[in-house]
Amino acid sequence: MDEKRASGRYYTRGNPFQLEPFQTWAKEINLAQQITLEPFAGAKDIPQLIDAAHLRGRDWALFDIAPGTKEVVQRDTLADFPKGFNVCITNPPWLARNSATRRGLPFPDATDYDDLYKYALEQCLTHCGWVAAIIPEAFIRSGLFLQRLRDFISLVPQTQQGETEKNKTRDTSYMFEDTEHPVGLALFTPDATSDVSIWRNNQLLGGLNELRRHLPRPSSNRKIVFNDPKGNLGLIAIDNTVSASIRFCPPAELGDYPIRVHCRSITKIGVPWHVDIDMLNTRLATIREKTHDVFLTAFKGIRRDGHYRRRLDWALARSIIDVNDLDPQLEMNME
Ligand SMILES: C[S@@+](CC[C@H](N)C(=O)[O-])C[C@H]1O[C@@H](n2cnc3c(N)ncnc32)[C@H](O)[C@@H]1O
Repeated sequence: MDEKRASGRYYTRGNPFQLEPFQTWAKEINLAQQITLEPFAGAKDIPQLIDAAHLRGRDWALFDIAPGTKEVVQRDTLADFPKGFNVCITNPPWLARNSATRRGLPFPDATDYDDLYKYALEQCLTHCGWVAAIIPEAFIRSGLFLQRLRDFISLVPQTQQGETEKNKTRDTSYMFEDTEHPVGLALFTPDATSDVSIWRNNQLLGGLNELRRHLPRPSSNRKIVFNDPKGNLGLIAIDNTVSASIRFCPPAELGDYPIRVHCRSITKIGVPWHVDIDMLNTRLATIREKTHDVFLTAFKGIRRDGHYRRRLDWALARSIIDVNDLDPQLEMNME
């Protein structure tokens, strides 16, 4: 497992290239005429998926530091990126820096990024005009490389048709064989884009700028104190496995639940005014509905209703609680 982790080697499974936004992107670049670069080609899964999606490139240039098949050329593409390609379709290695440190795995000195995939993606974008990359879903909250990003598709495994709720199994569109890590497909263009279209599989959720308008104003109100054992507000900050269940609650409901400084899932919050819990939950529900959870971190595990489980981070929770700073636009939406 650690050997796989060291090279960020989780091969692509499922086929995101059948999705509409990718098909549109591929038509626009006239994929059939292109020699496409796959700089982290592993066992050559991506070219096969492109074929299976009834798309065909003119040819492929395939590289990997540890080729999974003889058609892939051995090369450290992070140190020596192949030049002269206009189109790149890849699933780069990903490895969190802190995970590398914890496990004693090597991490390139050449970058300050907190994850290897960001560095790999930067290399692709520096050397290629058109880039399609399968990367962690959290990318869309990182604020990186937005200038040339045109579409971002949150890839959510679909339940198979015709199954009963109880017997539901997921098809193989979990993007990685070894993990159920939430992933997305990012589609970049050579030129600056005016906004990013956000998709959930084939469903267009909206433009990133438009979705952002439904967020409350950021709050830096430090009088709202998280992990306060005597707090007057409770927060269950992660969804359960069934539905969108994040909610504020009376602190008594959490009983003697030990409030730990590093806990990011259940907390008591000290708010120096009377809190209207129902109103906060309504606010949260409206934000979730209007933003389609794009700004909430997804984590491993699909809810029974078919969506990723989500976490509400402290920064967004703080801005929801800080009603004294209510955005007039949001107030209107809530009426
Ligand atoms: C997430 S896997 C993806 C493999 C393939 N693209 C797929 O989708 O099935 C990442 C790949 O990057 C390769 N890799 C990691 N570091 C590399 C480097 N410095 N140069 C070239 N390939 C590298 C790994 O060997 C692994 O095959």
